Amino acid sequence: MKKAIITGGSSGLGHEIVLKLLEKSVKVINLSRTPSKLDVINIKTNLNKDEDIIKAINTIKKNHQDIDLLILNSGMMRRRFISETTLNEVNEQFAVNVTGAIKLVESLINLIKKNKGDIVIIGSTSSFKTAPEHSIYSSAKHALLSYIESLQLELKKEDVRIIGFHPGGFKSKFHIKAKSDLKQEDLMDPQYLAQLIITALELPRNMQISKIIVDRKKHT
Ligand SMILES: NC(=O)c1ccc[n+]([C@@H]2O[C@H](COP(=O)([O-])OP(=O)(O)OC[C@H]3O[C@@H](n4cnc5c(N)ncnc54)[C@H](OP(=O)(O)O)[C@@H]3O)[C@@H](O)[C@H]2O)c1
Repeated sequence: MKKAIITGGSSGLGHEIVLKLLEKSVKVINLSRTPSKLDVINIKTNLNKDEDIIKAINTIKKNHQDIDLLILNSGMMRRRFISETTLNEVNEQFAVNVTGAIKLVESLINLIKKNKGDIVIIGSTSSFKTAPEHSIYSSAKHALLSYIESLQLELKKEDVRIIGFHPGGFKSKFHIKAKSDLKQEDLMDPQYLAQLIITALELPRNMQISKIIVDRKKHT
């Protein structure tokens, strides 16, 4: 790991992953709307805006040809019953959780292949199940799971590892922003999740952990 791009490194799990990468002297480029306060290069990017994604891709291709790790972590949820969801909210949740990630992979995959790098994609246990008021978030994470599996199939013979990481509820601003009724004290600590991702990345290159599912033990 020499140079990583992460989406959503400004907060939550992304912030914890960035801390661990910096400890290992990895150079980090963060794509999010608000900058990370850590020692990274920030490229202000709203994944719900195509013009931002195109600008970010152009900057990466111009200045960061040596990237060998892409971590697609940005995500957000709006809790709504089906009849309450607006079209803008559908577009936003798909853009941030799935199509933004897909657009970055499609544009950067040749660089990652050339540099024999890795891609980590943060799904969720919502990639496998759903709940009332989670329809769009859960649909987006299911779509992301399918994209992860497609990448793993198509890149089977390439020296590129694709790690799908699917956590259950953990402490971050995510649940506060989503107005979830989960209590922070019942949620997992994201630094342990970040450590699992680093451990998977540090395994020998002939080992790919394709799917990591981490459940909370206390379900409320
Ligand atoms: N927390 C949980 O319980 C939980 C459970 C399962 C899966 N996950 C997944 O874990 C990942 C990280 O979530 P978290 O819990 O760490 O949440 P968080 O603390 O709210 O962080 C979310 C990150 O996504 C970025 N983001 C949100 N909207 C964006 C946009 N329009 N454009 C670009 N970036 C955007 C945010 O950056 P800016 O606001 O600065 O743009 C932030 O850095 C997400 O994919 C989430 O779906 C979370």
